[in-house]
Amino acid sequence: MTSPPSIPSFAQADIARILITPDEIQAKIAAWGEAISRDYAGLSPVLVGILKGSVFVLADLLRHITIPVRLDFIAISSYGPQTRHSGVVRLLKDLDHSIEGCHVLVVEDIIDTGLTLSYVLRQLRQRRPASLAVGTLLNKPVRRLVDIPLRYVGFELPDEFVVGYGLDFRGRYRNLPFIATLRPEILLAA
Ligand code: IMP
Repeated sequence: MTSPPSIPSFAQADIARILITPDEIQAKIAAWGEAISRDYAGLSPVLVGILKGSVFVLADLLRHITIPVRLDFIAISSYGPQTRHSGVVRLLKDLDHSIEGCHVLVVEDIIDTGLTLSYVLRQLRQRRPASLAVGTLLNKPVRRLVDIPLRYVGFELPDEFVVGYGLDFRGRYRNLPFIATLRPEILLAA
């Protein structure tokens, strides 16, 4: 039996429950990398990350992909300081390269309402990629407001706000190596 992951001291008083351990995350990402290597063999896909949360997933995922891939990023504003979607999406940084005729896989850390991603997908589709698919480490299906076909899903989550492994609350907790919920008083203090 493996021991539960230790919580860094700065976060000890704030974490309510660890939902997904570092080992569980890494095992899922390894399997995801193998699947991408199989599914996109010969296609040299472009993996697109949405800054900043997806950086963690992408960095680990790429190390498990055994075919040639390119990496690009976009940055958008979505949540602001709150935990719920503001409905406002603004493009802060565009892709560095054209994706016309390319096989594009958007890699997300989490999909909640889906509003952010549907905006991004609309933008990317206009650039005529050869294919456009989505993979996400975490999915909150009960909160979905727009339908988004997902090719790869790591873990399904209930309607709870989570932090860690790239996910933040007010800019904090991204560096936790696990996915966890926060104590209600931390969220309410916002
Ligand atoms: P959506 O547009 O509602 O799907 O929101 C997507 C974005 O909201 C994600 O890329 C995250 O940045 C953020 N987000 C959604 N749920 C959570 C959460 O539980 N914790 C931290 N960030 C979240």
